[in-house]
Amino acid sequence: MRAYVLPAEGASPVFADVAAPQPADDEVLLRVTASSVNPHDAMVANGGAARYMTYHYPVVLGSDFAGTIEALGAGVDDLAVGRRVFGLVRELVAGRGSFAELVAVPRTWVAPVPDGVDDAAAGALGLAALTALRCVEAVTPTAGDVVLVNGATGGVGSYAVQMLVAHGATVLATARPGEEEKHVRKNGATDVVDWSTADLAERVRSLHPAGVAAVIDLVNRDEDAFTALATRVLAPGGRVACTGHAADADRLPGVVATNVRAAVDQEALRTIAELAGTGQLHAPITATFPFDEIPLAFEALRAGAVGKLAIDRTAAPSTPPHEQRTT
Ligand SMILES: NC(=O)c1ccc[n+]([C@@H]2O[C@H](COP(=O)([O-])OP(=O)(O)OC[C@H]3O[C@@H](n4cnc5c(N)ncnc54)[C@H](OP(=O)(O)O)[C@@H]3O)[C@@H](O)[C@H]2O)c1
Repeated sequence: MRAYVLPAEGASPVFADVAAPQPADDEVLLRVTASSVNPHDAMVANGGAARYMTYHYPVVLGSDFAGTIEALGAGVDDLAVGRRVFGLVRELVAGRGSFAELVAVPRTWVAPVPDGVDDAAAGALGLAALTALRCVEAVTPTAGDVVLVNGATGGVGSYAVQMLVAHGATVLATARPGEEEKHVRKNGATDVVDWSTADLAERVRSLHPAGVAAVIDLVNRDEDAFTALATRVLAPGGRVACTGHAADADRLPGVVATNVRAAVDQEALRTIAELAGTGQLHAPITATFPFDEIPLAFEALRAGAVGKLAIDRTAAPSTPPHEQRTT
């Protein structure tokens, strides 16, 4: 089958023919129709993920998928061939991936696509929606809480803002003026802070002098910067979630601090499907690339994209991303 792969250590990604996978007893084999790109995929593709993942070459790249079940392992009896499903590849081994015609994954990594959600949207949920869900779970929002989302313009941020709104929280989102601000407001953010021209914590305090109830930080990787932000903007008893592993609970007394790792399970995928199926979560797709143009999607991600960059087998070739944006 044709796949986008990293053929060997130190090599560049290429399209190549690789052996089609076979599902193990607890797995399903999917024909992939749609996907999207994540910073994590770029990290695997450039070899940077070797610090924490074991690479089995050729590494088929890609995490997210939507597709149709092609075959079932002997132990899977609650799904049927032909069913539309979505999910993600999530393990500490880089080897199987979704940028391929077929992928075989454990049953627990997939959930049925809800009615009314198309494959392109379902394919852009995956890692970003799961990470957003884990962040939101970590900060336990209740109605009326004000929550700062730092990095609200990206994939995880776009989903996190929508999920917080679904909990009744008021979202304060980071975005530059113009297209970015429009994007986060469309996702439900009430207040917007331009992080690029002013001190973020100072701006947050000027809008919310008593502090915010929680922070979801998708930007900071540095403990000092993260601790300073949380200390300056949180109200007493606040909660913080960080995807950059920069939260040190010992430095934040009285704060519930979580370093988020987006672990996949059935309950999480079902929650995401429920939100998407009931219209509370839409895929914030701002550009779509056909499978043959996955390298262009990576380039666009590197250049700084808003929302999600989707991969769709049915997409027409090449329109420059800025001309495709819909938000
Ligand atoms: N721990 C985990 O399990 C896990 C899982 C998934 C993702 N992550 C991490 O979570 C982060 C977010 O992921 P993502 O998929 O949402 O990435 P993304 O789509 O690239 O979004 C990141 C967003 O943050 C914006 N940004 C950059 N610097 C900023 C700053 N100083 N202040 C405010 N916003 C800023 C970016 O804008 P520009 O594009 O203009 O730079 C971009 O819109 C990434 O670092 C990713 O590696 C961790």
